Amino acid sequence: MSMSKVGKVITVDGPAASGKTSVSRELAHRLGWKWVSTGAFYRGLAFAAQELGISTNDKDALVKLSLSNQWKVQLDEDRTRVLFGPRDVTKEIAAEKVGELASQVSQIPEIRRELLEAQRACAQDVVGLVAEGRDCGTVVFPGAHFKVYLTANSDARAQRRAEEHGQSAETIKASQSQRDHLDSTRKVAPLQASADAFIVDTSNLSLPEVVDKIIQKFRDSGF
Ligand code: DC
Repeated sequence: MSMSKVGKVITVDGPAASGKTSVSRELAHRLGWKWVSTGAFYRGLAFAAQELGISTNDKDALVKLSLSNQWKVQLDEDRTRVLFGPRDVTKEIAAEKVGELASQVSQIPEIRRELLEAQRACAQDVVGLVAEGRDCGTVVFPGAHFKVYLTANSDARAQRRAEEHGQSAETIKASQSQRDHLDSTRKVAPLQASADAFIVDTSNLSLPEVVDKIIQKFRDSGF
């Protein structure tokens, strides 16, 4: 009987558009590790609910949907993919609107509990995993080998997403600040830096600069 083995884990948490995705993906590439965006689980569920006409207030239906095989998350080197039935909806779930819905469904404790196991399973049978989200260092992988928390000022964050989505920075800023408020004030697993996290402000740093800083600190910590 083969026993599943849990690999090393680095967690990268932070608010919307703090650079988590680009940083964690690059970090995983440089280390030769796997990478997962845990936000894809909440986005996938929110997207599936939207397609099926399930309201974000309908807790029972959402909990049921979180356990169903109507949608699933797949690890990939460049994106954390979401499949809805046979459809690859990875592009669709990136929309800011889906992020807002994801933030709403992520408030429900039962849903967080249901999705936790699948998120933890991403660290099984891998050499290493970089996991990014809001509560990866505090709840999903509290025993992670190394924890990072990214911050950036709200203008820099809105500007980043505006460039990605071709929308105005003002509109994005309003949506992000509402989402950050929801994510930071929820009762279960709110967005917060783990006490033992390495905190990096990415506002004025390039992607390679942020990744270099993290790798240096990771190595200095004896890994
Ligand atoms: O990182 P993201 O923008 O893809 O996340 C979308 C939403 O999902 C985010 O606003 C809150 C929720 N989320 C969460 O509650 N916990 C996580 N670990 C990741 C995301």
